[in-house]
Amino acid sequence: MIFVTGGAGFIGSNFILNWMKNNDESILNIDKLTYAGNLSSLQTVEKNKNYHFSQTDITDHDGIAQLFETFKPRAVLNFAAESHVDRSIHGPSDFIQTNIVGTFTLLDCAKRYWVTLEGEAKINFRFVHVSTDEVYGSLELEDPAFNEKTPYAPNSPYSASKAASDHLVRAYYHTYGLPVITTNCSNNYGPFQFPEKLIPLVIHNALMEKPLPIYGDGANVRDWLYVGDHCDAIVAILLDGRLGETYNIGGENEKRNIQVVDAICEHLDTLRPRANGKSYKELKTFVKDRPGHDKRYAIDATKIKKELDWQPKETFNSGLKRTIEWYLENFLWVDNIVSGEYKTWVVKNYKDKSI
Ligand code: NAD
Ligand code: DAU
Repeated sequence: MIFVTGGAGFIGSNFILNWMKNNDESILNIDKLTYAGNLSSLQTVEKNKNYHFSQTDITDHDGIAQLFETFKPRAVLNFAAESHVDRSIHGPSDFIQTNIVGTFTLLDCAKRYWVTLEGEAKINFRFVHVSTDEVYGSLELEDPAFNEKTPYAPNSPYSASKAASDHLVRAYYHTYGLPVITTNCSNNYGPFQFPEKLIPLVIHNALMEKPLPIYGDGANVRDWLYVGDHCDAIVAILLDGRLGETYNIGGENEKRNIQVVDAICEHLDTLRPRANGKSYKELKTFVKDRPGHDKRYAIDATKIKKELDWQPKETFNSGLKRTIEWYLENFLWVDNIVSGEYKTWVVKNYKDKSI
């Protein structure tokens, strides 16, 4: 069995859905079900005999230790996190708890379990920690992309908490020999992404004829990767990644935010033209910038490409079209979220951003 923490979130649920299509090995999805956890994303696999779910907080030491003892996993994939930069600015405390204390708790329980293993089980055990390119800080436009040797320089409470978790993972390898691998990935997009993040937010707002909020001048650059390509990279790392190493994962699809919003509008103009015949681009609205907004992220993914023969399958254009089509077909999935807690978040986040 494999433990997937945070499996009810965006990337974790995509990972589980992809895994269950291609593997017979069981998964235990360990998720606290915060505002970002949504079990309806996993409806198609919930009756599968190889899928199991435990509503457990990764900071709960006794609860996590019990799961190790009961299920004896051969690997842990740690996706669980507080993941939204804007939320970390409004309230960093949950980020410290889940991203730092939670990762520590998982590492400690994994280590206590791993030392009891023998032979092949001990050699083959893996702890894969899913992290972010944001730990490297911000690039200027002319800077080379982040590689695995780029020094850490996190700028937001979110990225600082992820950086701390990466350091703990590294320390458990160097100090105790726990067989860990860390991944640092760029911005993901695709099905089942919570509509607080740029791409699903813009798609949903456009369909609701609401303003499309662009922070600052819209010139900040992100490197976009289709979520399915990220999941494939994690499978490759679980299979063949070298212990104690970190792997950068990215799509080499650098785009300014304004380009991303324009591209979404252009796809929607074709796929779901507005009743008034105008372009969705007319809904674009520049709002107050995110404090400490990182200018540019870019990933050099040479290492994973060379060592593990991984390549993204989607281009930005093909992945974005696929994603928009999914949101059009699954409007209810998003609308159910928007009608809940998310509403109060929108008020809190955008009230001082003068839309
Ligand atoms: P998400 O916010 O969509 O999902 C996070 C999941 O973790 C949710 O299901 C939530 O309920 C769960 N969770 C939160 N706190 C928990 C706790 N204390 N115990 C157990 N479960 C808890 O996040 P995501 O976008 O799917 O990101 C997954 C991982 O990938 C994160 O570690 C994030 O830092 C990393 N990452 C994300 C991106 C991206 O673009 N989304 C890019 C690179 C790396
Ligand atoms: O780089 C990887 C990271 O990507 C992950 O580690 C994070 O978990 C994930 O949330 C994402 O972080 P970003 O802050 O880059 O993603 P977000 O979708 O929040 O914002 C993308 C860009 O769009 C960023 O420059 C801010 C901008 N933005 C965002 C929102 C929500 C807007 O202009 N308007 C908005 O309303």
